[in-house]
Amino acid sequence: MMTLEELEKDALNRHIPVMQKEGILFLIEQLKTIQASSCLEIGSAIGYSAMMMVTHVGDLMVETIELDEQRYQEAVQHIQERQLDQRIVIHHDNALTFDCQKLQCAPYDCLFIDAAKAQYQKFFEKYVPFVKEKGIIIVDNLDFHGMIFDIDHIQNRNTKQLVKKIKRFKDWIFQNADYDVHYYAVGDGICVITRKDKQ
Ligand SMILES: C[S@@+](CC[C@H](N)C(=O)[O-])C[C@H]1O[C@@H](n2cnc3c(N)ncnc32)[C@H](O)[C@@H]1O
Repeated sequence: MMTLEELEKDALNRHIPVMQKEGILFLIEQLKTIQASSCLEIGSAIGYSAMMMVTHVGDLMVETIELDEQRYQEAVQHIQERQLDQRIVIHHDNALTFDCQKLQCAPYDCLFIDAAKAQYQKFFEKYVPFVKEKGIIIVDNLDFHGMIFDIDHIQNRNTKQLVKKIKRFKDWIFQNADYDVHYYAVGDGICVITRKDKQ
């Protein structure tokens, strides 16, 4: 059986996007800091980040949703092989249309959004009600390989559209009166979002 490190390399070789090493270590540190016992992840891919989280953070439970059938099946296999199925609940579904009554570990200490970048705001609005009052929301890939800082020079039309959508989400969340946002230039750009204290 491959180690999680080997699994990460293997996924990248097969062009399956898994979280960058420094990004996942950052996420784990955040979870430890808040002593998280539950995390909802949007976008499991082959289960790498979910398995990293539960193996590095005490009694954490991760619930995760993956759209792609093949990746979901692979994730299930990896999770079972490592006997982590008591700590990871995985759903094969589209997180945009997923029936939230099926969520098993809500409310969560952390919501980690790592799926279709064009839909970040929709994921955020749909799942934020399931985050505890003092919980955190972590969003990855907000720099999109640095392109977000130079949109005018992006040649490919689809990429340009996608980067514009990511920027729209970034602007929206930074201007949102209900949340505090901290940006970290870790990996591909990560935001840690918390609810503003009510006066
Ligand atoms: C960047 S990968 C996730 C990587 C994973 N978190 C890790 O670091 O190991 C994004 C995943 O989100 C999935 N995805 C995209 N749209 C989705 C949706 N609407 N609902 C659920 N999963 C989705 C993709 O199939 C892809 O596997």
